[in-house]
Order: sequence, then C-alpha cells, then structure tokens
Amino acid sequence: MADKMDGASGTGTAMTAASKERPPQAAYEFLVVCNRLPVELRAAEGRLSWEPSPGGLVTAMEPVLRDREAVWLGWSGRHIDDSVPASPLPHDLGPCALEEVALTREEVEEYYEGFCNETIWPLYHDAVVTPVYHRHTWNAYQRINRRFADAAARLAAPGATVWVHDYQLQLVPRLLREQRPDLRIGYFLHIPFPPAELFVQLPWRQQILQGLLGADLVGFHTQGGAANFLTLSERLLGLSPKEDAVDVPDPAAASGARTVRAGAFPISIDSRSFSELAAQPEVRERAAEIRSAVGDPRTLLLGVDRLDYTKGIDVRLGAITELLDEGRFDDCVCIQVATPSRENVEEYQRMRDEINQMVGSAIGDHGTIGQAPIQYLHQPLAREELAAYYVAADVMLVTPYRDGMNLVAKEYVACRNDEDGALVLSEFTGAALDLPQAYLVNPYDADGVKEAIVKAMSAPKSEQRQRMVEMRRQVFTHDVDRWAADFLETLRP
Ligand code: ADP
Ligand code: G6P
Repeated sequence: MADKMDGASGTGTAMTAASKERPPQAAYEFLVVCNRLPVELRAAEGRLSWEPSPGGLVTAMEPVLRDREAVWLGWSGRHIDDSVPASPLPHDLGPCALEEVALTREEVEEYYEGFCNETIWPLYHDAVVTPVYHRHTWNAYQRINRRFADAAARLAAPGATVWVHDYQLQLVPRLLREQRPDLRIGYFLHIPFPPAELFVQLPWRQQILQGLLGADLVGFHTQGGAANFLTLSERLLGLSPKEDAVDVPDPAAASGARTVRAGAFPISIDSRSFSELAAQPEVRERAAEIRSAVGDPRTLLLGVDRLDYTKGIDVRLGAITELLDEGRFDDCVCIQVATPSRENVEEYQRMRDEINQMVGSAIGDHGTIGQAPIQYLHQPLAREELAAYYVAADVMLVTPYRDGMNLVAKEYVACRNDEDGALVLSEFTGAALDLPQAYLVNPYDADGVKEAIVKAMSAPKSEQRQRMVEMRRQVFTHDVDRWAADFLETLRP
C-alpha cells in the first residue's frame, strides 16, 4: 500500500463507492467484510488524502487480499454527511475490489465510538477501563451490522465464501445467513474473547452469541477464546457444545441443525516482506541515523503502538522512569511511537494526557539540553520508517494489559535479520503463546517489568541470539498466508 494516495478529491456527495468497474450484482465468489477498509480518507493541512488505515487487522489482511479476486467491504473513515468533496477509493490492491459502507457522523459516534469502542473493546480486554452499556448505541450497532450484512448479501455470488472480521461486526454472520443461506460464512475475532464472568455483563449477550453462531466457522487467536465461546453457548443458549463445535437449530438445514465450528487460528504477519524491508540498504542507513539522532546510546529501547489504554504504554514508561530515578538507565534511550487512535473517545483522550504527562515528567527530571532519555512520537510512520526503528532498537517493549495477538512483536522479530535484539513481551498477549522465548512479563507487576527490561538490556549476545533464532523460526514458518490458508481450509464444506 502506498503511504500516501493523493488525488483524493472530486465533487458530489460520497456514498457507497467502488474502487473499480463493479462486476454485476452478486458476482463475487470471495468477500471480506471488515469495519475498516485498508485505506482511510484523512484531512490534513487543508488537503484530503488516502492513507493506510491504522491497526493490526489491516496489516494482516492487506497482504492476504493483495493478489486475490475478491472484494473488501468496509468503512473509509469518512462521514458521508460532511460537506467534503467525494473521493473515489484508490485502486491499489490488484484484483481485489474495495466497496465502501457509508456511515454518517452520528452513526460513527454511536456505532463505532460508542458501542464498538466504549462497550465491546474494553469489555473484551479484561475491562481494563469500565465498559458502558447504552441502549441507543446498541441500537446503532444493530442497524449498522444490518447495513454491512445487506451489502454483503447483495455482492455475494451464489454459494460464495464470506469472511467477516472482528468485534465491530459480530451480528453480521447471522443477519447474512438469514438472507443468504447458500453462503459459506467464516468469522474471525481479532481481539480476545472474554471469559464468561465478564461476557455475561453484556445486556445483549444472547444476541451477540447468536450473531456469531450464524457463521460456519468462528475463529479466535487462542484456544482459550474458542473455549470461552463454546462454554457461553451452553450457559446462555442451552446448546450442547463438543470439543470444537456446537450444533445450532436451523430450520433451513435438512437435519434441522447446523454445525458451527470454533477454533484457534493465531494470526501473523507477512514475515518475509518485513524482513526484506529491513534488509534494504536505505532502511539500514536510516536505522543508523535514528541511533545517531538520539546520541548513539548504549542501549536503544523501542515501543510502537496505537495509543490505546490496553497497550500498557504507561507500564513501560513507569518502569523506565523508576530505572532513571535509580540511576539504572544511564546512556540508554527509549523511543515510544504511538499512532493516534479513536481520538473522539473519552478514555483515549484521558490516556493521551496521561502519557504526555509521564513523558514530560521523565524528560523534565532526567533530560539535559539536547538529550532526552525518552523520545515520544505521536504520529503514524511509513512502513519503511517503522522497519528502520525496528532495526535500530536493541530492546523492543511490548507490555499490553491484554492484547488479542500483538503484531508489533512479530514485526520486530521479522526485522532482526542479524538475529540480535531482545523482545520484552507481556504474558497477556496472544503473541506470548507463539513467542515464549521472549522476556515475558506480567504488566501488573511493576518490579517484574523493571527487572525484565534490565535483563533484556544486559543479557549476553549469545543468549539474545538463541532466543531470537527460535522466535524467527516461529514467525517465518507461521506467516499470515499460512494463517489465512488454515482458516479458509477449515471453513471449506
Ligand atoms: P492493534 O491491532 O491493536 O493496533 P497490533 O500490534 O496487532 O495492534 O498491530 C498494530 C499495527 O499497526 C502493526 O502492524 C504496527 O506496525 C502498526 N503501527 C503501530 N504503530 C504505528 C505507527 N506509529 N506508525 C505506523 N504503523 C504503526
Ligand atoms: C485493532 C482492531 C481492528 C481495528 C484496529 C484499529 O486492530 O482489532 O479491528 O481496525 O485496532 O482501530 P480503529 O478503531 O482505528 O479501526
């Protein structure tokens, strides 16, 4: 995906838009349905441009879809009722078409910022901030899920495969099946699926489960997520799950029931392309420049995240601040890169202020003129630039309170072609199951995090290499193509 896609201008009102000559209705054999398209329309300095959408879902799905005959159905990040010029979607994914589901400003507020990101997101992430339950945002969620389902139903060829993604669209499998029982429907959740004790807080818990059970296959990052889902189907709906499947009553099925499978499909990245990027001479030169720009420290540490309260950015900054206070961070620098995210949601605004304050205090207390032990970039970076940061960093800090997978951890590993570098990784990420050789930490244990950072910084090169070689083996043998192939193979009738 190009980093900037200009020419995002035109006239008229933006409505449902297709990226290229649209095939006749109901002509796609393979559809991917996500809240996000791979690109979003952003306004900056009085200009509109198409930019890559933030987050791991797009990082993972973009290489899977790049060379496929398919359609990617999603939202472009714009409000259709704003008086900005309409902008045709860019043609950038080879044979894969893009189709936009249009949302108004009010719908974005209620469905996306409200139900998705003030209810489901915190609830599914261990309620690290308190989820709120509002009936009007639930109503919007139902309405918008129906809009996505209707669009998919219109575009799918008879017997097509439809792959629905993530927590924003949990009702779509059922809504789609009601209209189109001929379709093969897969659903993948990119975030954790919570234990029953948390899920039962949801006033609309049965509807959400029934929505998901409209799929033929429901995928999670971990076995734990799949087990939680099956347990809940028994507890809340009275079904009788077996080890990896559950039968649901379905009058359209000859036997009167339909089998829904549930399983773990840990997602990954396009490992080879990250590694190739990191090997480029320009990226390596840029990595050296980055080190030199921060004073060629003894150890360079790095954090890269969306600015999200689940990511534990405060955990690592707190640990580093204490190490600074104790004089154990001399000649070390930590760079934290945080992409702006969900900026209209109150908890994200609060988090942003808190991180600003933590960075400011650390620099104020421990910086000298021209030298700051913590460097903070609140901005998205181009992929090449990001790879240069990964190459530059001796220690990568990934400390979420809870994370479905965490692709940043895998990207760092894929970029370490010299087999050096150390990864500090929260136990509460899906990635910790795939990369147990990392320096694993409990993000709630402040002393433990500090000691793991010190251990990673001071480990002998031979130990770091041993760990990194194993992690690289995992990341290269389990890339995102394998993930998609496993899921789609299991989905086949
Ligand atoms: P999440 O999906 O919750 O954001 P992940 O770690 O799984 O978390 O995925 C984040 C993705 O966003 C990664 O592909 C990462 O490279 C990308 N990313 C994170 N921060 C930035 C940034 N500042 N600039 C560009 N890309 C970023
Ligand atoms: C996570 C979610 C994705 C989401 C991404 C970025 O990866 O699982 O569904 O797209 O964060 O968040 P945003 O709210 O900007 O789409």
